[in-house]
Amino acid sequence: MAIDKKLIDELRKRRKKALNLGGKDKIEKRHAKGLMTARDRLDNLYTKGTFQEFGLHAQHRATLFGMLGKDLPADGVVTGVGEVDGRPVAAFSQDFTTAGGSLGNMHAEKIVNAIDYAITHGIPVLSFNDSGGARIQEGINSLSGYGKVFYKNVEASGVVPQVTVIAGPCAGGAAYSPALTDFQIMINKQANMFICGPEVIKAATGEVVTMDEVGSAAANASVSGNIHFVANDDAHAIALAKKLLSYLPSNNLQDPPHHYGEPLDASLDPGMDELVPADGKLPLNVHDVIKRLVDGGDFFEVQMDFAKNIVIGFARIQGIVVGIVGNQPAYKAGTLDIDASDKAARFIRFCNIFNIPLVTLVDTGGFLPGKQQERGGIIRHGAKLLFAYASTTVPKITVIMRKSYGGAYIAMCSKELGADAVFAWPTAEIAVMGAEGATGILYKDEIKNAADPKARRAELIAEYRDQFASPYQAAGMGSVTDVIEPSETRAVVARALRNTLTKREVRPPKKHGNIPL
Ligand code: HXC
Repeated sequence: MAIDKKLIDELRKRRKKALNLGGKDKIEKRHAKGLMTARDRLDNLYTKGTFQEFGLHAQHRATLFGMLGKDLPADGVVTGVGEVDGRPVAAFSQDFTTAGGSLGNMHAEKIVNAIDYAITHGIPVLSFNDSGGARIQEGINSLSGYGKVFYKNVEASGVVPQVTVIAGPCAGGAAYSPALTDFQIMINKQANMFICGPEVIKAATGEVVTMDEVGSAAANASVSGNIHFVANDDAHAIALAKKLLSYLPSNNLQDPPHHYGEPLDASLDPGMDELVPADGKLPLNVHDVIKRLVDGGDFFEVQMDFAKNIVIGFARIQGIVVGIVGNQPAYKAGTLDIDASDKAARFIRFCNIFNIPLVTLVDTGGFLPGKQQERGGIIRHGAKLLFAYASTTVPKITVIMRKSYGGAYIAMCSKELGADAVFAWPTAEIAVMGAEGATGILYKDEIKNAADPKARRAELIAEYRDQFASPYQAAGMGSVTDVIEPSETRAVVARALRNTLTKREVRPPKKHGNIPL
């Protein structure tokens, strides 16, 4: 007794055909260009032997309407679940060799099912987007398919992490699926993403633009801020995705993968003292501070090319996964502007969803003055930052390194916005406004009438710093938990994190707050 061999042969034949994507020629063409196929990408993502495909035998439904006469293996998208570093992750990978990875009814249904699987089982979803967009032959069915994918992206948002790799063309409305996910990794040169490309822009408005200007990875990373990471090639994109996942829990009900258990290391780091220039006018580079603060100097920066005046990213501090938000005084004096506020606010809210404690490093002259900022809506955008910090309930630890003035003091995760602990270095300046501006207002006549106005001004600035901007004043009023030496920072932050990991904060029930979008 044994199974009829013909049945096995039939299965093998069908599998072989489907696994062959759009055919040997098209696969070879891609390989010759140094591109991976949809299946190569999943093979490289998942631990060998762990991938369970969903819908290998799926067929497009265009035949139902007599519109597409040929087979489309797996309907142009490979979906399933497999293990990444020992944890299950769902994925879908669009197959450009099959009808240009275009999205039809079944293609969309497979994507929706993969996201649904992720929601039900509490696991992240990773996608490789590589597609000519809505499948022309399926008309409204492909548009309807997109609508269903967007709806599912939104349903999954806040439940499981969603990460998109933009690996090829991603044009028109199709770009909204990546945009609805948490992180986008875009591959340099081989990918482009835009709503209206150069040809449409020219036809509609007469404006001549290049693809580099509107759709390249560089434009999306540094100008519009649409994406979070630029990869050099497919393998690099997969490595970035894996590294990102290594900081994230599988779903919103889990803690992130902290690696701790060792006793607290309370040793000092004298190198941190040396980073602080004695001259308050010289900028501090927040990257240098972060490097000393986090385990092994390993900081996974997010959106490193966009709004460089604020730095965000993931790291571990004595094993505890944290999201770091730091002003960058070495760029635009670390001022908060529209883009910096948007960038930080979204990251803070992501960390809150996935139970990732926040560490905020403060050194900012305040919100950026200027007509463009006012007319661009800095009030609305800056309010996002305030809203984000005030509404997050994860542990929030703040270190005020140097300048912390005015609204920016409050916005950068002050005690008043719910920080669990705020530490200030002796160099911290916490006040309504900077010493130069404030002395000009308070002592205008005194400076003007002094025998040596310049010398008197300098004296008054020093006095102001002592009296009105001292961290001891803030500590005396309870807005600062403790004043610490820079060399103590790593130990103090690690201790604060350990002491706050069990935090439970319950707010009044509501549908959701009304963040100023
Ligand atoms: C059906 C498509 C397709 C599409 C490509 N193909 N796009 N089939 N529907 N949307 C097919 C081609 O016919 C071809 O099939 C194969 O995919 C490869 O395409 P090529 O054009 O040969 O490849 P390439 O030269 O690399 O150009 C890739 C491309 C181009 C830039 C993506 O194909 C293109 O411009 N496609 C149309 C893009 C587009 O405008 N899509 C609609 C966007 S609007 P064969 O059989 O020859 O291999 C949209 C609305 C979404 O998506 C709305 C959501 C709200």
